[in-house]
Amino acid sequence: MAHKITLIPGDGIGPEVSRATVRILEATGLKFEWETFAAGAEAFEKYHEYIPKELSESIERTRVGLKGPVTTPVGGGFASINVTLRKQFELYANFRPIRNLPHIPTRYPQVDLIIVRENTESLYSGIEHEVVPGVVESIKIITEKASTRIAKFAFEYARKNQRKKIHAIHKANIMKLSDGLFLRCCRDVAKGFPEITYAEHIVDNTCMQLVMNPYQYDVLVMENLYGDIISDLCAAFIGGLGLVPSANIGDHCSIFEAVHGSAPDIAGKNIANPTALIRCSLLMLRHLGEFEAATKIRNALEKVYRDRDKLTKDVGGKAGTSEFADSVIGAMETGVAQPAS
Ligand code: NAI
Repeated sequence: MAHKITLIPGDGIGPEVSRATVRILEATGLKFEWETFAAGAEAFEKYHEYIPKELSESIERTRVGLKGPVTTPVGGGFASINVTLRKQFELYANFRPIRNLPHIPTRYPQVDLIIVRENTESLYSGIEHEVVPGVVESIKIITEKASTRIAKFAFEYARKNQRKKIHAIHKANIMKLSDGLFLRCCRDVAKGFPEITYAEHIVDNTCMQLVMNPYQYDVLVMENLYGDIISDLCAAFIGGLGLVPSANIGDHCSIFEAVHGSAPDIAGKNIANPTALIRCSLLMLRHLGEFEAATKIRNALEKVYRDRDKLTKDVGGKAGTSEFADSVIGAMETGVAQPAS
């Protein structure tokens, strides 16, 4: 039976990295039915809607989305498509695993961090207004419901995957009420997971501690804005934004998308690294119960990184996006025996 997936190729480098990922997924031998939609400025031209009704209906139906990046105008224009989709479908948990790939030279060769970011509130509620000319107010919303829900997600993930430690990241020394509530919820949830060590770190100190020694962390749970910033910081540990996947998980549906944006500086040149979206597709396959296909792609991807001669420019190679995808497909076809990790 074919897996029905809503595909949002996105804009900028989105169509290039999506095409590469779809080709690799299809080369596993699994069957997919792609329901493909534009979003953002491109969708507006065609449907006069930034998130077309047909796209929303498709996600409701398939319950699984694979999404390329979508450009968000800065300082005006339409609201972020990413943030809107996360809110619209209550994709409350943003899950971002940060793990090294073989042979990418980095300061820390064995990073294995999980960032769990609350996805629906904080300053991303987008509630802003001009109080008087020259004074703008932006409101940070933190609720007990969303904080408890994200803390439970992090602890349940840790228990299921034998992770040992969770840090709640906060700024409750300054935002005593909002981040204070977030921490209280994390502490309450932690009581039900006595086998997992629970600790709290202030967000600015966390940035410094991460750069000094990322190995001291295991799973980090935090509100939306801190998660956005810290996950880009952590992307640098493993070689940059082109490598980091993410999953937006809700109770009803999930959307898998790379951490990076539409990278207008390199769009249309066939030089973008599709690894992040390929790694998203691994998360998606596991979500669909297709563990064998996920392992097959992961092994092939790691072989291409070990061989080094078909890497993209951002990680020191000369290959184009499509050539990189060809090598991953080639490695899958020849079969690569790899220890599971
Ligand atoms: P960006 O992630 O697009 O680019 C930052 C830097 O990383 C650029 O130098 C870019 O060339 C490089 N880069 C990113 N992805 C890469 C890849 N796959 N391969 C090689 N190099 C890569 O971040 P930026 O410039 O801040 O945002 C551009 C646009 O993307 C904005 O409109 C932003 O709102 C949007 N955006 C969309 C996201 C999404 O759809 N999930 C997430 C983040 C940003």
